[in-house]
Amino acid sequence: MEIKKVTVKLENNPHEYAVEIGHDLLGTSGVWARECLSPKTRKIALVSNRKVFGLYGKAVTRAFESQNFQTRVFLMKDGERHKNFRVLESLLEFFGENKLTRTDAVVAVGGGVVGDLAGFAAAIFLRGLAFLQMPTTFLSMIDSSVGGKTGVNSGFGKNLIGAFHQPRGVLIDVKTLKTLPRRELVAGFCEAVKQAAIADRKLFNQTAEFTKNFSLSKFKRSFSDEKFVDALENLIAAQIAFKAKIVMQDEREAVERSDEKSRKILNFGHTLAHALEKVTDYKRFKHGEAVGYGILFAAALSKKLEILDENELNLLNDVLCRVGKLPDAQNINLEKVSEAFAFDKKTTGNSLQWILLKEIGKPIIVENKDIAPSLVYETLEKVLHQKLL
Ligand SMILES: NC(=O)c1ccc[n+]([C@@H]2O[C@H](COP(=O)([O-])OP(=O)(O)OC[C@H]3O[C@@H](n4cnc5c(N)ncnc54)[C@H](O)[C@@H]3O)[C@@H](O)[C@H]2O)c1
Ligand SMILES: [Zn+2]
Repeated sequence: MEIKKVTVKLENNPHEYAVEIGHDLLGTSGVWARECLSPKTRKIALVSNRKVFGLYGKAVTRAFESQNFQTRVFLMKDGERHKNFRVLESLLEFFGENKLTRTDAVVAVGGGVVGDLAGFAAAIFLRGLAFLQMPTTFLSMIDSSVGGKTGVNSGFGKNLIGAFHQPRGVLIDVKTLKTLPRRELVAGFCEAVKQAAIADRKLFNQTAEFTKNFSLSKFKRSFSDEKFVDALENLIAAQIAFKAKIVMQDEREAVERSDEKSRKILNFGHTLAHALEKVTDYKRFKHGEAVGYGILFAAALSKKLEILDENELNLLNDVLCRVGKLPDAQNINLEKVSEAFAFDKKTTGNSLQWILLKEIGKPIIVENKDIAPSLVYETLEKVLHQKLL
């Protein structure tokens, strides 16, 4: 069985790590962990939630124990709202009670919520424990498990407290996606379309082809088809290779940069996404679904400004359409959305910038002050109220 590998090498960081992508890998995950970690590592804190651990925990625990790791399991509650200080504190206490030392390690088994929280705890416990990621959602496979951003939410915003802490390794078993709820899959694919749109024609075509060749509505039933599994692994590997490339040249998202290789371009579609999440109190949309609208909006605005041509816009809209339906946005108050844009501005400390598109693979950062507010408003209205999809 072939395992696909993407290496993440960071400019100012001695650690290089591999992301391994394949199927039926949980049973040998202990061997993988042993290779990633020091031979001295004894204790492993496995961090997950009840749902994911119920599905895959036994296989993972058994695999780790076969390599003489002593596993200690911490299960957090499921959901974004539990990615907070309180849970972080109880996880740190758990590490303390279990007497984890500098040579021990933390392994996240789950989606981005588990990965972000476990990674942050690993970053700060004893000033840094080795950390491994075993992502189990499509979004965490192509996005959050790679790049080293970890953190928690707080009263004043999402993801504002955190640390950069690169994992020692990432193991992706695509078959864990068999149990992923459909909305989570759609949300993850919206992020894949985002990455594809700013990457290059090759990744865009590969992502578009995948959605053409394999209907996402039959996703779960497709795992018996070897071609599907292979195409899925290749897509995930290509998506990760792109994310890794951006992260490698701008590990910490340098604030002063605004060139097309800045890590900032990964925020394509995210200014509107964050605003939509905020005005709906984080209840109506999955983050990726909001990104779906964000991409549609950024592309439509680019077209209105005559920097993106119609064919390109249609290509993007078509692929998003195949990914699936987004929750309705027709009754969203556009004034409130516009007000919420200012929030992104505050967090960057800069003036509001839009990441727009000149063509597939050619993002461009444009200052909000250089765009007529009426254009932004009209485009918002078109995308949210007139239902482009
Ligand atoms: N660190 C980064 O660079 C980065 C990047 C993007 C997003 N994020 C963060 O990632 C989080 C979102 O991650 P997510 O989309 O993975 O959400 P999530 O972790 O909440 O997982 C989504 C849901 O799927 C369930 N689940 C996970 N794996 C499953 C499986 N294999 N089968 C069945 N159910 C499964 C989870 O229990 C949860 O209910 C957000 O907190 C976001 O801020 C971080
Ligand atoms: Zn995102």
